[in-house]
Amino acid sequence: MGSYISHSAAETEAFAEALARSLVVGSVIGLAGDLGAGKTQFVKGLARGLGITERVHSPTFALLNSYEGVRGPLFHLDLYRLETDQQVIDAGLEEYLHAPAGISVIEWVDRWRGPMPQGYRRFELETMDERTRRIIYDHPGD
Ligand SMILES: Nc1ncnc2c1ncn2[C@@H]1O[C@H](COP(=O)(O)OP(=O)(O)OP(=O)(O)O)[C@@H](O)[C@H]1O
Ligand SMILES: [Mg+2]
Repeated sequence: MGSYISHSAAETEAFAEALARSLVVGSVIGLAGDLGAGKTQFVKGLARGLGITERVHSPTFALLNSYEGVRGPLFHLDLYRLETDQQVIDAGLEEYLHAPAGISVIEWVDRWRGPMPQGYRRFELETMDERTRRIIYDHPGD
């Protein structure tokens, strides 16, 4: 259990960039927090930490974007438009939540109530004011 206060979008990116160092193929990162909390900003930092230079944008309509990183693909999911576990399964996204053949990062992760893999890490971004966010995580380390 821990938290980190980010004072800018750049600090949120740097926090996620540092986290990227500990990720390997099969790692799953979940992101929670309201609209505009900074989930996509977080993914930008993660992507940078994985050597991805492609522009990262929210896959709200695509549901899934993938980018080629130095340690294999980064799968970027956004479950905002999905309401039930069955919809997640029907969209063909379950393997990305369970056992991805790369690193998965999932915006609106709380839409999925099914099981998560061992080592799963969830980060919740809380908007404190216009530029300040509290990033809360419930696992030891980082
Ligand atoms: N400390 C901060 N951390 C992250 N983003 C910040 C911070 N301060 C300001 N921002 C701004 O807040 C916005 C966050 O947008 P972002 O798209 O990352 O949110 P989101 O959580 O992905 O929203 P959505 O649920 O719509 O996908 C950006 O415009 C960013 O510049
Ligand atoms: Mg987003």
